[in-house]
Order: sequence, then C-alpha cells, then structure tokens
Amino acid sequence: FAPRHLLSIADLTPTEFSTLLSNASSHKTAIKSGVTPAALAGKLSGKTIALMFSKRSTRTRVSTEAAVTSMGGHPMFLGSGDIQLGVNESLYDTSVVISSMVSAMVARVNAHDEVANLAKHSSVPVINALSADFHPLQTIADFVTIQETFGKEKVQGLKVAWVGDANNVLFDLAIGCLKMGVDIAVAAPAGYEIPAAMKQLILASAPKGSTAKLTETNVPEEAIKGSDILVTDTWISMGQEEESAKRLKAFAGYQITEELARRGGAKDSWRFMHCLPRHSEEVDDEVFYGRRSLVFPEAENRLWAAISALEGFVVNKGNIV
Ligand code: CP
Repeated sequence: FAPRHLLSIADLTPTEFSTLLSNASSHKTAIKSGVTPAALAGKLSGKTIALMFSKRSTRTRVSTEAAVTSMGGHPMFLGSGDIQLGVNESLYDTSVVISSMVSAMVARVNAHDEVANLAKHSSVPVINALSADFHPLQTIADFVTIQETFGKEKVQGLKVAWVGDANNVLFDLAIGCLKMGVDIAVAAPAGYEIPAAMKQLILASAPKGSTAKLTETNVPEEAIKGSDILVTDTWISMGQEEESAKRLKAFAGYQITEELARRGGAKDSWRFMHCLPRHSEEVDDEVFYGRRSLVFPEAENRLWAAISALEGFVVNKGNIV
C-alpha cells in the first residue's frame, strides 16, 4: 500500500482537518492533566522517525522531537550537514534508502518539490515540516489556538486579516480558513501577493458550497476592516536575506500596531497571531507582548499539532479518526 502523506492542509478533507484539531486539543488536555491517552502511549515504541531539516528551526524541531519521544519513539534528527538531502544524491535515492530504515520522515526543505519527491518515492509517511509553499503543522497549531480562544462552535464566520508577506505560512492558513468557514483577507504590497497558481490551488481546496471568502488588497486597512484576528509573519524569510533592504522598503506601513488596527476598523476584541520567529518590523512590542497576543499559546500548540499529525499519519497510517 502507498503510504499517505501530509504535505499541505489541502491534503485533508474538512472533517479530517477538524479531527486533527480535536485530537490535538483532547491530547493536550489529557497529557497536561497527567494522563497519557491510550491512543498515544507507546504507539511509536521501537520506531525511528527521521527528522530531516535542510533549514534551521526552533519550534518545528523541538515540537516534533518531543512529540515522537512522548509516544515512545526515537526521533533521529538529521540536519543539512548530516545527510545528502538534495545534495550529492538524488531525492529518489535518499527517499528510497531512508524510508527502508525508518517508520516516517518529517522533512523541512527548500522548494516544495523536494518534499513532494521524498513523498512520491517513500515507502513510509512523509510529513512536511515546512517547504517554500506550505506549513501544515503550523496551520493545525493555529486553528487549535483559534478554537481555544473563540470557542470551537464560533470559529465559522470569523474573519482573519493577514497583513504582510504572502508566504508558505499564509498559503496553508488560507486553505485551513476556507475549509473551516473562516474569511481571510490578505494585504500584501504589490509584487508580494499570492502567486496566481497558488491562489487557484487555495480556492480549489475550499469545500463545495463554502461561503468563506479569500480577498486580496494592497491596503492593510482594507484587509483589517471587521477582522477578529490579525496575523503576520516575517517579511524576510530564510533564504531572502539578500533582499532585506528592498523588502523593508516595500513593506513600509504594514507593521501591525494598535493604531493600524484602529485605523483599519478591526473588531474591538481582535487578537494577534504570529508563527514566530518574530522581528519588530512586522509587529510592534505593544501588540506582540500585549493582551491581544496569542503567540505563545500558538507556539506551544505546535507540540499538540505534531502529536496529532503523527498519530493520524504514522500510528493510524493516514486514517484520521
Ligand atoms: N513557526 C516555525 O515553524 O518556527 P521554526 O522555524 O522555529 O520551526
């Protein structure tokens, strides 16, 4: 049997996505009260999970290592200096060889094709730990946080405003929003918007009959109007360091502040999210560390998201129940 992989939230039905969120939340409650659920206890015992990271990481590395350990497995961290991931060996060879020795691969790569190729040739499940196009583990954690904050029953009908660079974190978040009935408005400067092919993919991933909308603008205030949640990410992702000066200039006026939210007409109760790592240019300290900020619960939820994804794709072999 071909294994089932998690490369993007687009790979999930709305029901499967909701189930991953519910499992993450219920495991969080149980484990924090000192009970390891039977669905997890020892389920990766004797199994090795390869964590193949071509790029640095704090949250994704720590959460996936801790998640594997909590289920009794062995997380084998393989950094860019350790293995021939996309260097000196084809991805086909790497995938066939590593998947013959481990129970799953969790991979952080550069181009999305790299993780797609690993998955194509792997005999075990592959979980995308961030590619140039998608970051599904982040979106699971984000929606766990949104459900905790607003109440599971009140998520449908919320409005998210993404203000900043249209990047991989946004793409999976937008897919998640449309699957959950959440409107998402994106404000990005000209030249930094969602690429047309990605926009098509996001819209195509919406369930039939969904009334949730994806809208785009170059004006932050337009996206913010009536929003419940303001979200941003770094303006300079890994690998874009040489574009720093150009990007800082292009994104002027996009910093999330109380003043911008007021001017844009966010709801009085608006909350703030950011996947981290954070830089002060995209959000000021008042918002990032203030009463509206969900950033640290959101980061912690990366652990519960990783546990839920490993349970669904490795323990239960893609049968998300
Ligand atoms: N949000 C996130 O993926 O963080 P890391 O890059 O530190 O893993």
